[in-house]
Amino acid sequence: MNYCGVVLAGGKGTRLGELTRVVNKHLLPVGDEPMVYHPLRKLVGAGVRDILLVSGPESLGDFIRQLGSGKALGCSLTYRAQDEPGGIAQALGLAESYCGDRPCAVLLGDNVFHDALGPLLQRTIQNSDHAWIALKQVHDPSRYGIAELQGHRIVALEEKPREPRSDLAIAGIYVFPPEVFALIRQAKPSARGEWEITDINRAFLEQGRLQHVFLEGYWTDAGTPESLDLAKQLVKSTPPLF
Ligand code: TTP
Repeated sequence: MNYCGVVLAGGKGTRLGELTRVVNKHLLPVGDEPMVYHPLRKLVGAGVRDILLVSGPESLGDFIRQLGSGKALGCSLTYRAQDEPGGIAQALGLAESYCGDRPCAVLLGDNVFHDALGPLLQRTIQNSDHAWIALKQVHDPSRYGIAELQGHRIVALEEKPREPRSDLAIAGIYVFPPEVFALIRQAKPSARGEWEITDINRAFLEQGRLQHVFLEGYWTDAGTPESLDLAKQLVKSTPPLF
């Protein structure tokens, strides 16, 4: 399957406070490389060679200086600016012309996880016209988008619920068919003013076209001081599989 890769590395990074006043979150170190190397290496390890990196105009120059063409990582990088941090779905929408009629493997640039991406992508091939999300059991579900399951079937998705009905967080690892872009174009911003990826996933759910895999190893975001420390500890003690 000819996937294109999309790494979303925009956003505000407000929760990291002074650490991200000048430096984009995804250029902070996790292990011995900047954080953004992690999703890039995951995609390359899964055989995805064409990758679009989306970030804010204030940071794109830094990414280009750091990563260049992508050759050193074994991929071909294209860059696109997200003028304002209007949400994950908005950032993904910028990949429409890049992906064309290819399915896309989308990684949030601040997600750190152990599982290799290749086997997860292999699973999606069986239903490549469906959207796929990756789930992980967590202790603090109200921080995340959550999936509620009945048996093996997802029955509901909620974004950062105050009283979560499930402890299965939706990780920042998605595979979408090209129709995702039409759904993003039709979507409206949420109450917090962002185009939410959970709304897009819910649209697939309502069409009976949302599938999931479970992550076996660790998964964390690295977007708060505590979770950034955790990400560093995790990759040190158990290096991620690429
Ligand atoms: P978040 O951590 O939800 O948002 P943020 O990066 O703006 O951080 P904070 O809440 O501390 O201000 O973003 C998750 C990932 O999605 C992150 O890797 C950046 C990416 N992202 C974009 O690319 N564009 C966006 O508009 C947003 C909101 C996030």
